[in-house]
Amino acid sequence: MSQENMSSYRRFPPEMLTESQARKELEALAQELAFHDALYYQKDAPTLSDAEYDALRQRNEAIEKLFPHLVLKDSPGLKVGAKAAEGFAKVTHLMPMLSLDNAFNSEDIQKFIERVCRFLNLPLTQQISLVAEPKIDGLSCSLVYEDGFLVSAATRGDGYVGEDITENIKTISSIPTLLSGDQGKQAQGQTLEVRGEIYMSKKEFEILNKARLEKGDQPFANPRNAAAGSVRQLDPKVTASRPLGFFAYGFGRFEDRDITSHHQRLALLRAWGFPVNPLIKTCATTAQLVAFHDELERKRAALDYDIDGSVFKVDNLAWEKRLGTVARSPRYAVAAKFPPEQGSTKLADIQIQVGRTGVLTPVAVLEPLTVGGVVVSRATLHNRDEIARKDVRIGDTVLVQRAGDVIPQVVKVVNPEAPNRAGPYVFPDHCPACGSKAAKEEGEVAVRCLAGLICPAQAALRVRHFVSKGAFDIEGFGAKNVDLFFEKGVIKTPVDIFTFESRNAGFEVPLEKWEGWGSKSAQKLFNAVNAKRRIGLDRFIYALGIRQIGQTTAKTLAKNYLSYDNWFVKMQEASAGGVGNPAYEALIEIDGIGSDMAEDLMYFFSEEHNIEFLQSLVGSQIQVEDMAVKDTSGSPISGKVVVFTGTLETLSRAEAKSQAETLGAKVSGSVSKKTDYVIVGADAGSKAKKAQELGVQVLEEQEWISLIKHLPQ
Ligand code: IVH
Repeated sequence: MSQENMSSYRRFPPEMLTESQARKELEALAQELAFHDALYYQKDAPTLSDAEYDALRQRNEAIEKLFPHLVLKDSPGLKVGAKAAEGFAKVTHLMPMLSLDNAFNSEDIQKFIERVCRFLNLPLTQQISLVAEPKIDGLSCSLVYEDGFLVSAATRGDGYVGEDITENIKTISSIPTLLSGDQGKQAQGQTLEVRGEIYMSKKEFEILNKARLEKGDQPFANPRNAAAGSVRQLDPKVTASRPLGFFAYGFGRFEDRDITSHHQRLALLRAWGFPVNPLIKTCATTAQLVAFHDELERKRAALDYDIDGSVFKVDNLAWEKRLGTVARSPRYAVAAKFPPEQGSTKLADIQIQVGRTGVLTPVAVLEPLTVGGVVVSRATLHNRDEIARKDVRIGDTVLVQRAGDVIPQVVKVVNPEAPNRAGPYVFPDHCPACGSKAAKEEGEVAVRCLAGLICPAQAALRVRHFVSKGAFDIEGFGAKNVDLFFEKGVIKTPVDIFTFESRNAGFEVPLEKWEGWGSKSAQKLFNAVNAKRRIGLDRFIYALGIRQIGQTTAKTLAKNYLSYDNWFVKMQEASAGGVGNPAYEALIEIDGIGSDMAEDLMYFFSEEHNIEFLQSLVGSQIQVEDMAVKDTSGSPISGKVVVFTGTLETLSRAEAKSQAETLGAKVSGSVSKKTDYVIVGADAGSKAKKAQELGVQVLEEQEWISLIKHLPQ
């Protein structure tokens, strides 16, 4: 449902709605919920998160409570019970449905066999018989038979509890509802589980998707999703209209003493009327397994169902039992995966995305192609160096690879010798989101936007940092609220935090009218902001979120530059003058400031947007206090190395550290011969012990406090 269709009253809390607004809102909610229900239940393609969907339902409920006489005849609230009854019941598997360990090459296969031999105490060279099967790319299913009758069917779920899909499974004609043949008697007198994979053939998948496109429905991404979407249908009639196949590959619970091998199991399943994959083979050697796997890969494209590898299972059931399982995978079986699937297509364009941390990521816009049953139209090009290394140019034919669920990637250019190729791709040196400079630091691969604070792509994350504990520490400005204010568009840069209150009165819907807010909570937030209009230089520098400038470095800078104005001027000088400039040289002279940190500071100050930002904030919206310097020369702990350990009673660790540093001590995290004092709190562990061993002076918390209490703080 588009944003435009959304009721214009959506922003109002239910209590604020007039009767006629409530009526319209209930109608809009009923429509929207029906729309999203259809997406979820019928199309298997929801566009709302569960939380967003629940919020709509809760809002409907709240309005209905306030205006009971307006409840619609077909209210979505009335359907809740019905939905739950219609929804899938849970089924606990009699035996857990396990997953398989993966092998990616012949070495891994060999290692698997050796592990099996070692576990069974057999010589590593022993040839053991294994059943090799195609690994069907569908969804696994457990079928329960009682006295030979199909009584229930369930999805894998979390391996222990799945969803009851009995009625839908009964529409799959190849699954027997009664175990047939003479062998059927082996199923008498017991409750057994047959395990296998439900899939949709490639042909049926194409037909289904074509029909969906014609109807204006979203196509399924691949046959696996189509099969899963078809099985998870509340209406079995829909499942019946989607031709699904099934391959049985084993059992959950089942007892039959006459059966001693996995291949006998498969024969029995076949005799009972189950489809068992015709390509399954018993192999005696590793070489045969590898040959099976290679041949299967060659056949892969021609098969009418998707497979993603082979499964090898120890044939001897006595061994299978002894091998058992580790964690959630059996030791007696392994899945050998095919290498990633590839295809080539034309690179129509290269787009640059800016992530929340400012990294510019190039994305290949492709002429759509199908790779392993999935339509791919975008792929990652990773970063600037990768584009240069592969010399990828717009208009090239490129090889695209999909590896499992991983984002498709551009592997290489197929036609590097083609005539009339476009010129080499020029990676932007400006951020497409905010127009600021973008650059790559030495030793890094990523090109980043240098204007974190004002760049819309990064601003939310930066503002979260700006208001966090070690920075402006504004109460009530948690991550959730920051995100909300961004979403509503009331905050775009940190300056907006401080102008929020004065702008609020002019908003169409001011903060106190938002859902969940009132005049008290709004005022509380504004007061919290106002309380922080003065900030120490160290905290301010830290708040800017300049790369590599954490709390300690910010403090070091503040101690050296003392006032904001001085720091600002010196950083601008250093940035403009670069290496060799006295301001730059003075910066890297500071103990604790490396040249890489200096480089990050210079980047920050070389970006005009950042300067403008500082100018619009400091002085008018906030005051940055000078750094108070203490004369610590008379302090008995000046220059001493101290270590805190254990839980202190009267001080937080952060406060104790800051106090010690103010008095000229160096606080270290570990005890060594250089340590002067170790201050021990409750439950002090190995550090206290180490101090004793090294003969370092150990102080109780109170002793430490009396040592420093007479000093000016
Ligand atoms: S045996 C304990 N055989 O692969 C062994 N699984 O990662 C359990 N699968 O959830 C499975 N074809 O959905 C087995 N021939 C085959 C299979 C197969 C596909 C799937 C199955 C399972 C997953 C294991």
